[in-house]
Amino acid sequence: MALRNIFKEGESVLRRVAREVTTFDNRLHVLIDDMWETMYKADGVGLAAPQVGIAKRVAVVDIGDGEKLELVNPVISKRKGEQVGFEGCLSIDSSKNGNVIRPMSLVVNALDRNGKPFEYKAEGFKARAICHECDHLDGILFIDKVIKA
Ligand code: NI
Repeated sequence: MALRNIFKEGESVLRRVAREVTTFDNRLHVLIDDMWETMYKADGVGLAAPQVGIAKRVAVVDIGDGEKLELVNPVISKRKGEQVGFEGCLSIDSSKNGNVIRPMSLVVNALDRNGKPFEYKAEGFKARAICHECDHLDGILFIDKVIKA
């Protein structure tokens, strides 16, 4: 595993719509392993591949509950309710942290690192983190959605 450089706001890769993953090879596994290492080192709870300069639809989430969620080509298929909560991002200066409205619960359909489909249900902070990371794959940053407190 290796640490990757975290791309910051202003880099064009963060604003691109990332490409679907079609090859589930060692290269993808190395990318995901590196994303974990980079995320933990930066004390994050999630990281999307565009944040390490790779415009592919890959994200990882670990909110500290002992579950390491790897999402390849994720699609949020159901959203329920609403929550307002504070967000930040490893790619954005913390002075811009702010409140964002997200669904209270959701269902996400994704592939694992070997291309096997799965469905995952999340609520609360984990649902928030998944939404934040999925937005990254469409070139959307939380600062686009910050509301006044
Ligand atoms: Ni982010």
